[in-house]
Order: sequence, then structure tokens, then C-alpha cells
Amino acid sequence: MNQSDSTIKAEPFPRTIDLLFINCHLATMAKGSYSIIKNGALGVTRKKISWAGEQANLPKTPEKLSPQVIDCQGKWIVPGFVDCHTHLVWAGSRSNEFEMRLNGASYEEIAKKGGGIFSTVRATRNATENELFSQASKRMDNLLKQGTTCVEIKSGYGLDLDTELKMLSVIDRLNQAFPLHIEPTFLGAHTLPLEFTGKPDDYVNLVTQTMLPRVKDQGIATAVDVFCEGIAFSKAQTRKIFKAATDLGFRVKLHAEQLSDMDGAALATEFNALSCDHLEYLSALGAKKMAEKDVSAVLLPGAFYFLKETQKPPVHLFRKLGIPMAISTDLNPGSSPVHAMTLILNMACLLFDLGCEEAISGATLNGAKALGLDKTKGSIEVGKDADLVVWDIKTPADLCYLLGQPQVTMVVISGKIEYQIKRPEPIENILPIE
Ligand code: NIG
Ligand code: FE
Repeated sequence: MNQSDSTIKAEPFPRTIDLLFINCHLATMAKGSYSIIKNGALGVTRKKISWAGEQANLPKTPEKLSPQVIDCQGKWIVPGFVDCHTHLVWAGSRSNEFEMRLNGASYEEIAKKGGGIFSTVRATRNATENELFSQASKRMDNLLKQGTTCVEIKSGYGLDLDTELKMLSVIDRLNQAFPLHIEPTFLGAHTLPLEFTGKPDDYVNLVTQTMLPRVKDQGIATAVDVFCEGIAFSKAQTRKIFKAATDLGFRVKLHAEQLSDMDGAALATEFNALSCDHLEYLSALGAKKMAEKDVSAVLLPGAFYFLKETQKPPVHLFRKLGIPMAISTDLNPGSSPVHAMTLILNMACLLFDLGCEEAISGATLNGAKALGLDKTKGSIEVGKDADLVVWDIKTPADLCYLLGQPQVTMVVISGKIEYQIKRPEPIENILPIE
């Protein structure tokens, strides 16, 4: 682990500080490494990080610098997690399918029998917007309390115009109601809806000619995703959707090579995709093309774990070619009902052989990069958004190592304290029950 990083420049002291953290250690994740500042302090001014450095370099009476001083008592501050791939809005449950899989059925077999994504599509079509909002709100709350401050959310359980718009509208309402930054993605091409069986090109036309223009008009998505897979869309169909999407000005990203090599990643690079996600079956050529176009690899160990996959993504190639690796929950009811990024950190290390520093970077700075947000999010650097989590840990590696233990003490988003753990009353303050 790096010790205090002397390469971090001493920043000029800001004129005003709204919120000042003292007695903390910082894993700034600047440039994708721990970039640790031991015995540090961190200042926030108007939603942004305005100072980060060794506490010894603060003027002697920190309480005079800021109206609000938070004594972290030796805890660690890490950038808020950026969860760059989720399907957080859905209705219904797939716990029955979990049990079917435990009895030997495969994810693909269940999908082919009208379960899987189709089962969630039925439930999501039948749910009202308010029902979807209320169920998704619980998940958002859960994410916030576990250290996520920025989340990408996809549509894709509607597969008809009205339900896709309903999902995007729910995502928009979540964005208003919760402090977390949300990046909304249109995934109308998640799978071929049953009513279009045998007519995939008709559905692709509906996506390109009707859905995409409506989504664009309403301004409720920033990117477009496609599931390019044997059980979803072919490379040629994906190309048509990407062409229409980029013509309308959307950035694209792809569920690529999750269950087989469809050569989807290579296609995505032709459209300057933000990221290719999953990538278990990525070829060396696909990786080379991703490197050439600086397309991020989003690794989703939760889905790999939950589906008991055996083929791992080619992490050695990503390293060798300098492809940025993000990691994400892929939160969804079918293949990864995982909310906690700390669990994903552990899985990334043990299942995909990432180091702790690589994994934490994947959940912060590289997550932001996969969303095109790395100029403003993902690391503790002066001028970036003050999205911070105070952790009760002894070392950053604890986030990956202590399964289920690392404790969020406080979450700050855009410089505002949005969550703080409530400590139980000290025992002596509790009156005995008569
Ligand atoms: O990322 N791969 C496609 N989509 C999701 C799964 C969605 C589902 O099973 O409901 C994924 O794994
Ligand atoms: Fe996904």
C-alpha cells in the first residue's frame, strides 16, 4: 500500500470552507491508485472538494476555518462508489427462478421458456408508475447507505413504448427524489419481446423509429444500451440500433460477450462506445479494438457469481492493453440481485483476480470513466464533486476483505451530508425497564 503520496501537490487554501473533515485518512483514488493521504483533512466549498491534504498543513485552529467541522476520529474517506451498470427499476421477484436454477435449470433455459427477463417484463408492464417508484426507492436507499453516490440505471423491462417510457419516468423521479446522481440509459433492446417472436426486425424498427426518437424528445436518457447475445440481439441488429442512437446524439454502451462471443465489443468500438460490459467471452481482437478506442471494460462479477459462470473476462488483456476496468453491481432481479458495492469488490478480487486497489479504482474513478463522468466524479481531487464516504475501516483493502463488515459512517453527496449512521445510545443513558 502506498504511504502518504508526496506527489499530491499542496493546494492553495480556499477562502471559504463550508464543511471541513479532520482527523481522517484519505484514499483519494486519484489517477486510479490509492494515492493515500494519512492524517489528512478535506475541505468542501459549494458542493466541490476545495482542499485535500495533510492536516498538519491546515492553519492551527481548524474550527475557525469552517462553520461545520467533522472529526473523523481516524476513519477513512474514500470517493463515493460509482455504480455504472444497474437495472434498478423492476417489479416482481425471480426468487422462484433462483430455486429452479438450484434444481439444475440454466438461466438460458428459463429465458427460453418465457421466464427470465420476460417474467420481469410482465410484472413491470403490470405495475403502476407509483408502484415501480416505491419499490425502486427502497433499492436507492439501500445503495446510499452502502456508500454509492452515483448510479447508472437502465430501462429494459418494458419492451414496449409505454412501459419503457414509464421506466425512464420512474428513473427521472428517482433522480429528483434522491441525492444520488443518476445516469439514465435506454435499454429498449434488452431482449425480443414475446409478441415479436419470429419478427426481430420489426421490433428493431420499433426501437429505432419510434422508441429512440421519443426518448430523445423527452430528454430522459443519456445513453443507449443493447444486449447483444444469442438470447437477445444479433450483431447486425445491434448495429442498426447503434446507428439510429448515435445519429440522434446518444452515447452507446453494450452488454457484450456475456454468454458467448458475438463480436459485439468490436462493433461497439465502431460507435465509440462508452463501455462494453460483462465481456467473459471477449476475444483478443475485441480487446485490442477496445484499447484502440479507449472503451472501458465494465466487469460484473455479481452476475458471474450468481449464474455460476466459469469463463472469466480476460483481465490480463485489459491490464496489458491499458483498458480501464470498472466494476459494478449489475443490480437486477435475474442475474445479480446485489446492492452492495463492497460485496462486488470482494467478488472482483476473488473471482476475477483483481487487486484491492484495482477493484476500488474500478468502483470509483473507472466507474465514473465508464459513464463519461471522470472529470467530475470518482476521485478526491480539488474541483471535483464532493461525493464522499467516511468508512470505519483500518485500511482501504478492508473494503474488499472484510465481507459484510465495512461500515459506512457518513455519506456526503455534492457537499451535503445525506446519510449518517445512528449510533445506539450509550448503555448508561438507557433507563432500566421497570
Ligand atoms: O446484465 N444480460 C442482460 N441483462 C441483465 C440480466 C437481466 C435479467 O436477467 O433480468 C444482466 O445480467
Ligand atoms: Fe446488465
